[in-house]
Amino acid sequence: MSFPDVRMRRLRRTEALRRMCRETVLRRDDLILPLFVVEGSGVREPVASMPGVHRHSVDTLVNELKEVHDLGIPGVILFGIPTDKDARGSGADAADGIVQRAVEAAKRAEPGLCVITDVCLCEYTDHGHCGVLDGEQVENDPSVERLAATAVSHARAGADVVAPSDMMDGRVAAIRAALDADGHRDVAILSYAAKFASAFYGPFRDAAESTPAFGDRRAYQMDPPNAREALREMRLDLAEGADALMVKPALPYLDVLAAARREFDLPLAAYHVSGEYAMLKAAAERGWLDGERAMAEALLAIKRAGADWILTYAAKEIAPTL
Ligand code: PBG
Repeated sequence: MSFPDVRMRRLRRTEALRRMCRETVLRRDDLILPLFVVEGSGVREPVASMPGVHRHSVDTLVNELKEVHDLGIPGVILFGIPTDKDARGSGADAADGIVQRAVEAAKRAEPGLCVITDVCLCEYTDHGHCGVLDGEQVENDPSVERLAATAVSHARAGADVVAPSDMMDGRVAAIRAALDADGHRDVAILSYAAKFASAFYGPFRDAAESTPAFGDRRAYQMDPPNAREALREMRLDLAEGADALMVKPALPYLDVLAAARREFDLPLAAYHVSGEYAMLKAAAERGWLDGERAMAEALLAIKRAGADWILTYAAKEIAPTL
């Protein structure tokens, strides 16, 4: 059958019909809010390139978490931004480091909220790379040791999930082994498995002060043209013990996400990254598009492509509409 017997518009005629035909629904339960934590007290400083996003000290973070909880958002991912940085990223696994204190405060204030931590060295190293260096090379295996120690320190602080974002080889297995050896068998690993060397991280690097001092991340993050390789990365991380897998960024890589959805049964996360957020905000500020509708459409597209968990800076603004 085809036109004129078939008329697709019949089922689009009224809002009730459209509601009944909707295949994908974005839920509050799908959302994870990224939050930046800095030293000090009473801090709530706006991030210039990310309207609506702030950097919080631990005390004001607690207020933010209450809001997040009240909005029905189930989880947050925390990024620590230390004052002191050095070559090996000593602050990353310090028992009293910035993110460790934030996790403790978060679990005390909102025990029901899922606290995920970003496990990486780039916010903690003075050179801004995600691992430790030999000359200008990021050394894989010594970096993996530092990352495993970092994940353990987050678990000791009370993190529910640790999320390595460094893209070193073998880090998921090393983190799993280190967590188990330290008695954290129930702490889950969300692997940033298919993380691309993307231009869309620009605003994040302002917020997290993690721009590499030299070079770029192309020798460890993935090359944007490669979708098959992304699936290989995901299979490897699954085999190493990842509990959930991430594709990052989200919108420019929906093909990768959809392919991953066809192959994997475990939860899939997609990170709607800083640049994806910033460009919608910038266009909306200029009146060039309807910001609320565009944001809702972008997040829905990520869900439709197959994401179970959507990490987005827009979680708080979108939640009340869901
Ligand atoms: C740390 C990390 C980055 C992001 C998440 N974790 C930055 C990077 O890899 O340069 C980016 C998040 C965003 O852009 O919103 N390695």
